[in-house]
Amino acid sequence: MVCRVASLGSVRERPSWQFFAAMAKSVTGMATLWWAILLVRALIPAAIAVTTGWLVGSVQQGAELGPPLVGFAVVFLASQVAPPVHQVVGTLLGHRFSGVLNERLMTATTGPDGIGHLERGDLTNDLTTARDFDLGWTGPPMYLNMDFIAAGLVTLLGGIASAVVLFGLVWWAPLVLLAAWGSTHWLLRESGVWRDRNTAEVKTARRHTDYAYNLATEPPAAKEVRLFGLGEWLLERFTRHRLQLHDLQYRATKIRERSLVGALVLVLAGNVLVFWVLAGRAFDGAIGLQAVVTYAGAAFGASATAFGGLSWAMDGAAAPVVALNTLEPAMAAGGALSPGRPAGGAVAPASAPEIRFRDVTFGYPGVGHPVLEHFDLTIPAGTSMAIVGQNGAGKTTVAKLLCRLYDPDSGAIEIDGVDLRDLDLPRWRERLAAVFQDFVRYELPLRLNVAPLGADDALLADALRAAGAERLAEPDTPMAKGYPGGIDVSGGQWQRIALARAVAKVGSGAKVVLLDEPTAMLDVRGEHEIFRRLLEATVDTTTILVSHRFSTVRLAQRICVVEHGQVVETGSHDELIALGGRYRHMYELQASRFVEVDEHGEEVVHESL
Ligand SMILES: Nc1ncnc2c1ncn2[C@@H]1O[C@H](COP(=O)(O)OP(=O)(O)OP(=O)(O)O)[C@@H](O)[C@H]1O
Ligand SMILES: [Mg+2]
Repeated sequence: MVCRVASLGSVRERPSWQFFAAMAKSVTGMATLWWAILLVRALIPAAIAVTTGWLVGSVQQGAELGPPLVGFAVVFLASQVAPPVHQVVGTLLGHRFSGVLNERLMTATTGPDGIGHLERGDLTNDLTTARDFDLGWTGPPMYLNMDFIAAGLVTLLGGIASAVVLFGLVWWAPLVLLAAWGSTHWLLRESGVWRDRNTAEVKTARRHTDYAYNLATEPPAAKEVRLFGLGEWLLERFTRHRLQLHDLQYRATKIRERSLVGALVLVLAGNVLVFWVLAGRAFDGAIGLQAVVTYAGAAFGASATAFGGLSWAMDGAAAPVVALNTLEPAMAAGGALSPGRPAGGAVAPASAPEIRFRDVTFGYPGVGHPVLEHFDLTIPAGTSMAIVGQNGAGKTTVAKLLCRLYDPDSGAIEIDGVDLRDLDLPRWRERLAAVFQDFVRYELPLRLNVAPLGADDALLADALRAAGAERLAEPDTPMAKGYPGGIDVSGGQWQRIALARAVAKVGSGAKVVLLDEPTAMLDVRGEHEIFRRLLEATVDTTTILVSHRFSTVRLAQRICVVEHGQVVETGSHDELIALGGRYRHMYELQASRFVEVDEHGEEVVHESL
């Protein structure tokens, strides 16, 4: 019993099982139709053997030819109609199933509350397989593969049906023939290591191929490709990895000679045995011409159960399903946050809250050392706090923790005294507006860049004005050249759009604003002006500003200096200058020659403090 359960379990783990189970579950109606037509097709060879025998027998016996002829005609008609109909159904099924797999992957990537699952290197290969399976790099796309799978299954099941007909000859004939032809599966499968066609090596080669291809064909790298003369190098890299990919796949699918000979011997022995008996019965007169024709046809038809193209097609088609079945639980676990205490979560604050990092220690998953260690910081309600520190000090990490993209390893982040883990997460995120250091440039109309989920025209105009982007484009202009009427804008202009997005969210009720290098790409005059307007727009929020520009930083009410994952200084600009510590040192380094804009909007160059 234990053994039986275990073997059922291992059947369920087989890629082909996972493939058909996923298909039956998600595209049930069409999959059922596909299987029904497949069964009809599979019965045709056996039906041909039987009706041919019937016809020949009737001719021999001088019996009425009408019924066998009608039977033959029906089988013939089915053999002509079923394949093209099956192909159409298979194509539709393939398209629908691909879509379902794509949706499942999108749910797996966007579903988790955290983002740790997208940073797990061990999931990258499966992610690539599940994402790019329909591009045709390592096999035909799903809709085409359905045709190969159908052909392979029709042949296989047709062979079994033919073998069953031989039961009439002698009870063991089907078993002998199925065992003989079936042995080819076992022998060739074991020898061909075909199960490993999608090895980690193959997947890695595929990733390198993809990457070189994308770098060469997508605009973002175009400048550097030319400047650094990378064109030929990319082409060489692409070709090398592509050849390696196919070489690896070919080697994995090669059949070894010894197994081939073994398979041939078994097949020959099985067939000799069955045909020997058939011939013997015919000579003895135990069976007539009708039976001889039927059984000979059936024995011939049984050969269709031999190892063939079905295995290769299944291998390619099942790979994304297997990858998804692995990814879904792994991503759910990797991106999961620790469960909060109260069911449903405490309500997010309605007004600008106090934010407190209390003894927070945090390290990225899989990285040995912590980024923040015993990090303590309080940002009073409704105030602005600038965070300064060297590259890699952990400033962006603070912002990510506040968005609850990760949870601290120890310590807590408190919002008005409530642990962030106890707040209702969607509500909390509604209260947050952010400009991330690596903000997204959406290839969408300006309107959706500012408010991806929509906003009324007044809110849109206010946000664009606050970010100094009011004259950039019409609200419905696509922000990418590849679309009709689309435009592209400069780096600083994109940054203003990202700022407008944050301001629009403040207009929709956000009470905490995170600005991670929000003005790094703005010119001096623009930065000053934008900041003035931003402070106006965020007067009712608790604001965290990360910046390397001290002309911006000094506008914040309070400033903290982060070093080695800890807060080493906090205070207002004047207090920190008076303290004469890290802040003053950094400030003086930058201020030894910096440009400020005075109250009349004129640039004033300071040679030193
Ligand atoms: N997703 C990640 N996985 C692993 N390590 C990370 C990840 N993101 C950042 N780190 C590491 O964490 C540390 C802090 O990174 P963080 O982005 O918070 O620095 P930062 O202070 O914002 O730097 P910068 O001024 O360059 O923006 C760095 O050592 C960085 O290499
Ligand atoms: Mg950063």
